[in-house]
This record gives sequence, C-alpha cells and structure tokens, in this order.
Amino acid sequence: MNRSTERPTVTTSPTSNLDEASTLRHQLADQLAEAGHIRTPAVDEALRTVPRHAFAPEVPVQKAYTNDIVATRHNDDGHVISSISAPWLQADMLEAARIRPGHHVLEIGSGGYNAALIAELVGANGSVITVDIDRAVTDRATRFLTQTGYDRVRVVTADAEHLPTCIVPDGGFDAILVTVDTWDLPWIDALAEGGRLVAPLRLHGYHWAIGFTKRDGALHSDEPLIVCGFVAMQGDGAWNPNRRTVPGTGVHLSWEDGTPMPVDQLAPALTLEPTVTHTHVTVRGQEPFDALTLYLAGALNSFCRLSVEPDGDNGVLNPPPKHWPGAAIVRGDSLARLDTERIDDGDDGKGRYEFVVHGYGPHGHLAAQEMAEHVQHWQHNHRGAACPRITVRPQTNPTSAAPIHHPHVFDKRHTRITVDWPIAPGAAAHLMNG
Ligand SMILES: C[S@@+](CC[C@H](N)C(=O)[O-])C[C@H]1O[C@@H](n2cnc3c(N)ncnc32)[C@H](O)[C@@H]1O
Repeated sequence: MNRSTERPTVTTSPTSNLDEASTLRHQLADQLAEAGHIRTPAVDEALRTVPRHAFAPEVPVQKAYTNDIVATRHNDDGHVISSISAPWLQADMLEAARIRPGHHVLEIGSGGYNAALIAELVGANGSVITVDIDRAVTDRATRFLTQTGYDRVRVVTADAEHLPTCIVPDGGFDAILVTVDTWDLPWIDALAEGGRLVAPLRLHGYHWAIGFTKRDGALHSDEPLIVCGFVAMQGDGAWNPNRRTVPGTGVHLSWEDGTPMPVDQLAPALTLEPTVTHTHVTVRGQEPFDALTLYLAGALNSFCRLSVEPDGDNGVLNPPPKHWPGAAIVRGDSLARLDTERIDDGDDGKGRYEFVVHGYGPHGHLAAQEMAEHVQHWQHNHRGAACPRITVRPQTNPTSAAPIHHPHVFDKRHTRITVDWPIAPGAAAHLMNG
C-alpha cells in the first residue's frame, strides 16, 4: 500500500474533545517540566497553548499527547519520512535554541506543530519560516497552521540543501532549528553572528541533537548533546552510508564519515571464532555509551560501523549479537568489533556489562588490542569529563581540505567538524603519548 497518498481528514472537535485535549496538553507539559525538558516559562507556555492534536488529526487525541512521535507520512517501503517529533525532544531543542520575542527563526523540516510553538516564542514582532522538501508536507502544514490561527508562519517548499537566499533576512536568522537528521550543516551563512543553530547531526552514523552559537563565522557547541533519532534527510543533502558487504555473508560495513576500505578479503576471517580482548571497563545496563562510540569514531583510523542481517549467513557473527550497528575497524584481512559481555545483575538489577573487543582473522587480536586501548584511554581520561565540544567551520576548499593533526575531525561536504574531548579531573597521569 502506498501510504504516502493518504490524506488526513480534519474534523471539527466537539467541546468535550477540546476539554480533553486541553487537559492532556497540560498533563504532557507537567510531565516534560518534571523531567527537565521544559526549563523556561516561555517554552512551558508555548507547549500549553498550541493544540498538538490539530496537527495530527489522523490519530486519537490521546495519542497526539503521548510523549512520542506521531508518524504522518510513509514512503512506498513503509518507512516514516515525515512525523511530528516527540514532545520531549521538541522541548529540549526549543530550549537549546534560546528563542526570544522578536527573533527571526528558520525551521528546516515542517509539520506545522513545531513551527506554531516557535511562533508563540517569537511573538507578533518576530517571524517564522518553515521549509520542507515535500509538497504534501508543506500543503498539510499550511492547512493546519491556518486552521489553528498560525497563518503568519511562512511555509516554503524547497530542498534545504539549497536554501532560497530570498528567504534569509538581512543579517541572517537569529535561530535555525533543523528537525530532520542531517549529515552536514550547510546553513552557517544563513545564521546571524551570535545566533543559535540546533540540529540532529550525524557523526559516523551516531545522531546527536546539538545546540551551537555562531561566533567568528563558526558554530560552537555549548549545551549537553542529546542522543536522538530523526527521519532521514532527502534530496541533495541525503547522506551516503558508504556501505560495503563482505561477500557471502550478511555483514555490512559502512564508512559514513570515512573512506571505504576493501572488504572482500574479510570473508575467511568471519568463518573463524573471534578472539576476545577484555577492557575491564564496565557500563550499567541501559546506561548510554554513545560518547564512547563517538570517541572511537574519531580516535581510530578507518573506523566503520558493522551491521548484520538477521537472516543472512554471517559465519561466526550469526546470530547477530546486537541490533545496533557496532563500532568496528578493518586492518587488512582482519577486523575488530566492540561488544559487551554481561558480568552480573548490577545494583539495580538491570545488569552490569564489560566492554570487550572481538578480533576476527589472523591479526584480529592486534586490531582488538588497539581498540581496547582506546576504550581504556577514554575511560581514564574523558569518561568523567563534561560533554565533548564540537566546532563546525565552513570548508574553505572541500576538494583539497588539508589533513590536520587533530584526530577527531569529520570532513563533510560543506563543513569541517572538530570534536574536542575535555580531560576528566585527575586524569593527567593517564595521558597517552603515542
Ligand atoms: C521530523 S519531520 C519535521 C517535524 C516538524 N518540524 C514538527 O513539527 O514536528 C522531518 C521533515 O523533514 C523533511 N525533509 C527531509 N529532507 C529535507 C530536505 N532536504 N529539505 C527540507 N526538508 C526535508 C521531511 O519531508 C519531513 O517532513
């Protein structure tokens, strides 16, 4: 079924539904404030005012006010290509954007609801433009914004990779909110100096919502990073996963932020039992460790992500140990991959795990040792420190971007992104010299 052709029907809500929607809206706002996602009176007021259910009329009112996304459009394969984002993430990103009355704000990726929240924040003297590549989405957003009284939001159909210059105010936008998963940030020029840009950025396939301030023509992160997931960017800014498949196996390796390596020679390695290198670094069950994987992505040459087809013949990787694409490195005919091993139930019963590195192939143990040393380096030097600081500078010459000695650099089409890892207090004795 081609769900992309479905059209939502908007019906006039009876008064009892409006009362219910209002009650649910306040309950949701209470929940978001209690959990720390709403941190200012302005964002609180906006979330209590804008009728979220009016932007998602195809779902019951209760569903519109759960703390979850509402999928609004699918492609022919059934993948979600547009949604109203989860309220907790919208609140976090609006707080990170630091929008004030009178600001001129650009939203990339439309749905109507978030643009209406921004309209509440900028007030009558500010302006909101929302851009989406998909005319069905902009038509729908325009309709709902009009029905809810937010027709002062300007809705534009365009590929955000090629932002029409005529929509950029003199001096640039005060804030840009990107609400679609993005591999690059080609909007620095459209942002005013001192302005805020908040975006879910892909770094080697890991996604983080990051708040930046523009200073001296570059973006500097200055808020905690938020692990998140958004629908994929379409159009000319869609990312290339640079994926290779080891022949005869269902094992895929992707170099989303790097140069793909040959993989054919790895097939024999995947028929042998792996070596296991212990790191003695542990993690609690359900404790996120995305910071470690981002660290490894920058620290290790030829870092890649490994995923396994559940029903492929994957040799020793069958059945797949994990559902998420794991951190891996290729060294010639050998491979190393990060994994976890359960140690015990932990204090909270959710389990305690050790990071281990599996080595495949004749030199797999050496590759595993190399990765394990970096896990230990992160543990000793960075784990207890504040978030990494991320700086985004326009690529002056993308084709001849000079290699630089800082290892944690991700070169994109439009920008060069540098990740600086602060040293944890008391960690100087463990600095690695090689
Ligand atoms: C998560 S939805 C936006 C949610 C919305 N901001 C809300 O109110 O919650 C992401 C949107 O990004 C749009 N999109 C994808 N690629 C795009 C591109 N290159 N330029 C502009 N919009 C794009 C999709 O069509 C989709 O509607």
